[in-house]
Amino acid sequence: MRTLVDRVVEAGLPGHVAIIMDGNGRWAAARDLPRSAGHRAGAEAVERLVRFVGRRLGLRYLTLFAFSTENWTRPPAEVEDLMALLQHFIDEKVGEFIDGGIRLRVIGDVEGLPAELAATVRDAVRRTEAGEKLNLTVALNYGGRQDIVRACGEIAKSLAAGDLDPSAIDEAAIAERLHTARIPDPDLIIRTSGETRLSNFFLWQAAYAELHFTKTYWPGFTPAEFVRILDAFQKRERRYGGLGMEGVV
Ligand code: FPP
Repeated sequence: MRTLVDRVVEAGLPGHVAIIMDGNGRWAAARDLPRSAGHRAGAEAVERLVRFVGRRLGLRYLTLFAFSTENWTRPPAEVEDLMALLQHFIDEKVGEFIDGGIRLRVIGDVEGLPAELAATVRDAVRRTEAGEKLNLTVALNYGGRQDIVRACGEIAKSLAAGDLDPSAIDEAAIAERLHTARIPDPDLIIRTSGETRLSNFFLWQAAYAELHFTKTYWPGFTPAEFVRILDAFQKRERRYGGLGMEGVV
């Protein structure tokens, strides 16, 4: 019997799906648990989804927003806890990523992370470089505006050095200086927990992305819900500023 997964795969998957994982704290509070338990359950949801996407789905690009430049304002103990969780996750998963053909990329200011985590990230990115099945990007210490500002700085340097002519500054010139330079724009951005904001995520890259908001808190997000969202996405019509089919027939 053909399952919804089969149908979604046959219908043609989006090239790149990005997820703003939100609601770990509320998931924990609803269970009278500390926020740290919510983050731990959130890491398990990541593990579940990445395994499913890598083994069963064949999606090429998946991006997960794990820590924003604004998240440093959280209580130091929670930040420390999240850093330790990320460190543990990457350390533990790198072997599985290599075996599963998963290429890990990290976007954001890696040098601004605790030294041990930055070293772990650099090592995992290098060791998974040959992965050709799934491109898994984790946004860590990432901010969309900061990335655009950084790209503008790079352009200014190239202009000052005479390596770039002002007439050559176009969309591609900016896109290739962003952290996402070799990653296609997302087709679909999902945010969990019922919030309907981008919160400084993929501000440039989201230009034509479809947005999907689900009330599910991130730790409760399952591969089954992901497949249902892909199914709904495939039923939408993307017009890219044009008229769509009813305008031309
Ligand atoms: C949002 O929930 C979630 C985060 C700030 C961190 C995301 C981190 C994880 C899912 C865990 C580990 C990640 C990886 C890649 C292994 P929140 O704390 O803002 O929840 P709230 O809005 O309900 O308080």
